[in-house]
Amino acid sequence: MTVLVTGAGGQVGRAALRELGDRGIGLRHAELDVTDAAAVMAAVDEHHPELILHAAAWTDVDGAETDREGATRANVDANRHVAAAAKAVGARLVTLSTDFVFDGAKREPYLESDAVGPLSFYGETKLLGERAALETHPEGTWVVRTAWVYDEEGTNFPRLILRLAETRDTLRVVEDQSGSPTYAGHLAPLLLALPDQVPPGIRHIAGSGAATRREWAEAVLAAAGRSTVVEGATSDEFPTPAQRPAYSVLASEHADTPVLPPWRVGVEACMAGFVA
Ligand SMILES: NC(=O)c1ccc[n+]([C@@H]2O[C@H](COP(=O)([O-])OP(=O)(O)OC[C@H]3O[C@@H](n4cnc5c(N)ncnc54)[C@H](OP(=O)(O)O)[C@@H]3O)[C@@H](O)[C@H]2O)c1
Repeated sequence: MTVLVTGAGGQVGRAALRELGDRGIGLRHAELDVTDAAAVMAAVDEHHPELILHAAAWTDVDGAETDREGATRANVDANRHVAAAAKAVGARLVTLSTDFVFDGAKREPYLESDAVGPLSFYGETKLLGERAALETHPEGTWVVRTAWVYDEEGTNFPRLILRLAETRDTLRVVEDQSGSPTYAGHLAPLLLALPDQVPPGIRHIAGSGAATRREWAEAVLAAAGRSTVVEGATSDEFPTPAQRPAYSVLASEHADTPVLPPWRVGVEACMAGFVA
């Protein structure tokens, strides 16, 4: 089976291509701009994949607040273009969405049927992107909402924490945001297998369990063998242009949704890659 991966240079794209080996055709941003409908159609037509993993997206959550047009093109319009191309060649589509579609008012894990209410423009675009893909190619689209994704190389929270720990003995990390840290290396294989396992629609797949950002940072530092002290802080100490949900832990209400290992297992697996 041939699988086309958009956003091949990103965290999820890279992990998927490692998993796919020869079966994967990865197109990086420079090779395919997913906001260009004609280019998307031409690429899909050329490769005729059976499955498309649409891992390209605008992921700069704060930047989306100021460049709303750019974020909309990349997260909403592109989803429509990719879904239309998938439909045209009879391919199945797995596209990614986010825990940031929720407002964070809940205090137990968010399920697929819970009411959405994005706090940020990024969350808004991802929600509209979900709908665009599902409306365009309803029989062949799987939307996977995931959360707090990281890998060994990307621009992500664990790498930020490790960088800060190089020059500081104590770090202050927010403990009023809880979520589901998700290792891309664990997520990617499940994304690729999903269309063979469950009907089309929305699924929540993220590292199991719940973590505050402080707990996540502590786990990263412990796995990296660092003795840095982590103190708890509140989000108001670190103002950002985009508002994040205070609580956005994900779980699935469907018994057949594949489950990822506990988030701490993901941290340890990823850190093994860091220190190797
Ligand atoms: N990262 C998270 O914490 C997180 C959480 C929940 C959901 N998600 C979702 O999971 C998916 C994958 O995220 P990720 O962590 O792998 O993100 P990532 O590492 O930022 O990768 C996204 C990739 O998309 C590319 N891209 C951006 N605009 C593009 C365009 N117009 N055409 C083609 N490629 C474009 C980027 O290339 P350039 O860098 O060259 O622009 C980058 O390589 C996204 O849908 C994201 O919204 C991520």
